[in-house]
Amino acid sequence: MKAWLVGLGLLPLLLAGCGQASSNGATNSTVQYDAALVSQGRTLFSTTCYVCHGKNGQGNTGPALWGPNSSVQGFSQFSDLEQFIQANMPQNNPGSLSPTQALAAASFLWKQNHRHGS
Ligand code: HEC
Repeated sequence: MKAWLVGLGLLPLLLAGCGQASSNGATNSTVQYDAALVSQGRTLFSTTCYVCHGKNGQGNTGPALWGPNSSVQGFSQFSDLEQFIQANMPQNNPGSLSPTQALAAASFLWKQNHRHGS
């Protein structure tokens, strides 16, 4: 009976622990997988980025952007990815993307990498 009570006592702690973790995620989260942005990013990728990054993101002259060797996993924050793309990509014409295009490309890539939040 006593052990049972202790077990019950731990339950709120466990729940609080989970709540903590997810609220941290939510605090960092700046990304909603906005369907329109993801779709715009997909189109941009298949017209502008695929030449160097492969039709399926597997890499070509540029590194893989999703899949097993995805270099996008190296970006810890969504905003880092977005800014990197805005400043450096496409590599043959850096700075040519509008902020919305860079955001769209990052949204698409974040989704392809199954990344959430931050
Ligand atoms: C002319 C070839 C070329 C095109 C076009 C191009 N890239 Fe790249 N990309 C590269 C190369 C080469 C690298 C690796 C060198 C570097 O990081 O600058 C790279 C790196 C990247 C990285 C970082 C990978 C990492 O972790 O180092 C991202 C993200 C990326 N490209 C996204 C894009 C997007 C989005 C587009 C389309 C808007 C695009 N690229 C178009 C050649 C290209």
